[in-house]
Amino acid sequence: MKIFVSRKIPEIGYQLLRDAGLEVNSWGDDRMLTKEELIGYAKQHDALICMNGEKIDKDFLNECKHLKVISLYSVGYDNMDVAEATRLKIPLGNTPDVLSDATADIAFTLLLMTSRKAIFHHKRILNQQWDFFRPTANLGIELKNKTLGIFGLGRIGMEMAKRCRGAYNMNVIYHNRSDNKRAEKELGAKRVSFDELLSQSDIVSVHSALTPETKGAFNYAAFSKMKSNAIFINTSRGGVHNEEDLIKALNEKLIWGAGLDVTNPEPMKPDSSLLSMPNVSVLPHIGSATEEARNGMARIAAENAIAGLRGEKLPHPINPEVQQ
Ligand code: DGY
Repeated sequence: MKIFVSRKIPEIGYQLLRDAGLEVNSWGDDRMLTKEELIGYAKQHDALICMNGEKIDKDFLNECKHLKVISLYSVGYDNMDVAEATRLKIPLGNTPDVLSDATADIAFTLLLMTSRKAIFHHKRILNQQWDFFRPTANLGIELKNKTLGIFGLGRIGMEMAKRCRGAYNMNVIYHNRSDNKRAEKELGAKRVSFDELLSQSDIVSVHSALTPETKGAFNYAAFSKMKSNAIFINTSRGGVHNEEDLIKALNEKLIWGAGLDVTNPEPMKPDSSLLSMPNVSVLPHIGSATEEARNGMARIAAENAIAGLRGEKLPHPINPEVQQ
């Protein structure tokens, strides 16, 4: 059996695939494959390990319905047409859990950097504007005892909430489709409506998946309902916020600042006005970029692929109904 890996992944993934007796071929370049190229490679293989930036849409799936499994090297699967894969009976897998700490660390880092304008100050040093100790200039805001509002309190949101509660005794509220009993018990978190989340939070941190329901949820109307000293953090998907509306909200001081690990589009345009705002921190989608998380993702992606090729249940399925 042959498997194709669409980007270079950590060695542990290849090792597991080879130990399972598979012939492994991998794209070695830094550039992403085009859709046509990916289809071309997938057609010559029995299984695929692919990335979130690659569209596994209806066209792709119908061209490649011979695939015995598609294993995504990512927890978010907004790039996949899950309904079509399920209709074609192709098992899909993803890589949850192993990146929760790393991604929550980036949300927490963005919060700290934004609240103290760290990137802005660093850029001033580079521009030889050290300008030491002006008592009223370029001040940040403190985080102790603030209210953290989590939009989408799952595994990553829980880790962010734990960090904010532990470090700053924050009061945690959240907006979810269902209750998170563990967060309520361990952190005293309270489930609220979307409007309550917006109006009560000092920090809103987005951890939801990108779905038709969450797409563009943070638009001008939503930002207008937030506190004027609020910080908006997004480490999930750029599509959950409307970036033009975010820029407008920051310019109009409807909110205080923003920290983004995900933008819309990605890559962000280098002339985006977000990059020159003192109260904004932007990172290039590095939430899962630690040795530990990326090794864990490689292990799970390989385990999903191996199980699928053996006709066994995937350890981390996206559409488990295919294998019922
Ligand atoms: C994920 O795993 O969803 C990361 O955002 C990388 O795509």
